[in-house]
Amino acid sequence: MKKWQHHRDNNHAFCILPFSQSHINTDGSCHVCCVGDWDHALSRDITKEGILNIWRGDKYKKIRQQMLAGERPAVCQGCYNLDDAAGGSDRSLLTNNFHDPHKDWDIDIEAGNTDGIPSWLDWRPGNFCNLKCRMCFPSASSGLMDELIDNKELNPYYGHDGYEIGNWLDNPDRFEEFKKIIPYVNKLKIAGGEPMFMQGVINMFRYCVDNDIAKNINLDITTNGTRKQGKVLKMLTEFRSLWINFSIDGIADSHDYIRYPSKIKEILKHYKEYQEIAKTSILMTVQMYNIFEIPSVIEWWYENNKHHNFEHYHKINFNFVIVPKDLDIRLLPAKYKKQVLDEINQVLERIQLSEEMQRKSRIADIIQRLSTEHVFTGDESKEIGSKNNLNEIQRRKQFVKRTIQFDIIRNQSIRSLDPRLVDVFETWEKQYA
Ligand SMILES: C[S@@+](CC[C@H](N)C(=O)[O-])C[C@H]1O[C@@H](n2cnc3c(N)ncnc32)[C@H](O)[C@@H]1O
Ligand code: SF4
Repeated sequence: MKKWQHHRDNNHAFCILPFSQSHINTDGSCHVCCVGDWDHALSRDITKEGILNIWRGDKYKKIRQQMLAGERPAVCQGCYNLDDAAGGSDRSLLTNNFHDPHKDWDIDIEAGNTDGIPSWLDWRPGNFCNLKCRMCFPSASSGLMDELIDNKELNPYYGHDGYEIGNWLDNPDRFEEFKKIIPYVNKLKIAGGEPMFMQGVINMFRYCVDNDIAKNINLDITTNGTRKQGKVLKMLTEFRSLWINFSIDGIADSHDYIRYPSKIKEILKHYKEYQEIAKTSILMTVQMYNIFEIPSVIEWWYENNKHHNFEHYHKINFNFVIVPKDLDIRLLPAKYKKQVLDEINQVLERIQLSEEMQRKSRIADIIQRLSTEHVFTGDESKEIGSKNNLNEIQRRKQFVKRTIQFDIIRNQSIRSLDPRLVDVFETWEKQYA
């Protein structure tokens, strides 16, 4: 048995990611993974420090050392909390499902592994983005950053002024490092910003194709679906496998309202094009603005995919907005929670979606949130974004203010959405404005 397999089976502090995966965020900061504690970066700026210097540096080494000694590094506490409660952390899921890249591969404290290079990249190579989704952040979208620079009144919603981020893969030294790393990589996960329009990412795909490396790599891209068929999509077909996480936020008005200025009609056409070359997963970010559209999205997904083997090839997944705190669906008044819940249950009854699919897609989590009474006290200390917490009333006020402010700037109106959402908005507006 290899060392990593021994730790997987016998050491509950062990996680495979610090030994196999490089995670770099849009601003060039490096963290132990995408769910680890974001206040403690392994590097604040890999354009200065170098990707491999960090990978082989003291901070990574300490985490690996602690894990192999059976100690729990503080930055990974989020996963351990989940393990101690109901289970289902990324740590346990990814470690248990890990396959080593080749027969001589094993873990190592100094260099991560015997290759001395990560085999798995989870990179967000900058914040360039052509959209300005309402729940997203300027650090992930240059569109939102530009909007913030032009409209200082938006500062309170992000807690900072506008600033430049840039795209770290455009840095020639980092691209050279990418070329050194990529022959060892079998899993490449790319998001952003909008990866399908980032020049550094396109150069990366081209390098893999031109150097006959693409055929070894399982590629996973999260995209807003605005890029249509053409040369870039064609390159993607050269990879060993291709998984597309295709973000939509409704199948009608709520999508256009949230994912400004994209248009759902065009995006759904693109979805069909991507399905011809990739396995896909619709990825919907559940929030106040689209909660009433969830039942029709599930139904639409099912009707359009029931003829495929959708459990494996064309999935649907939901994630939740926790921050911004005023877009969290748990704010919805009880009578509307019940209505949406009933509608979701009717759809599930009609399409007979298995319990396993409900759990994996996180439809079960939506149901759980809608079935539970929740009043925010302002002391939700265990949640992400627990700093600067807001209580129920503060969240409602913020929801009204945010909606009015962004509607004015974008010349949109919440009144184009579901009348029940308009009712919630107008009721809170009267109460708190
Ligand atoms: C940041 S985007 C980057 C990739 C690409 N631009 C896209 O939209 O898919 C990745 C995912 O994060 C989701 N997202 C954006 N803001 C979020 C938030 N506040 N909370 C949770 N997920 C969010 C998006 O909807 C998208 O599915
Ligand atoms: S498309 Fe993606 S990165 Fe761009 S604003 Fe929307 S969620 Fe954020």
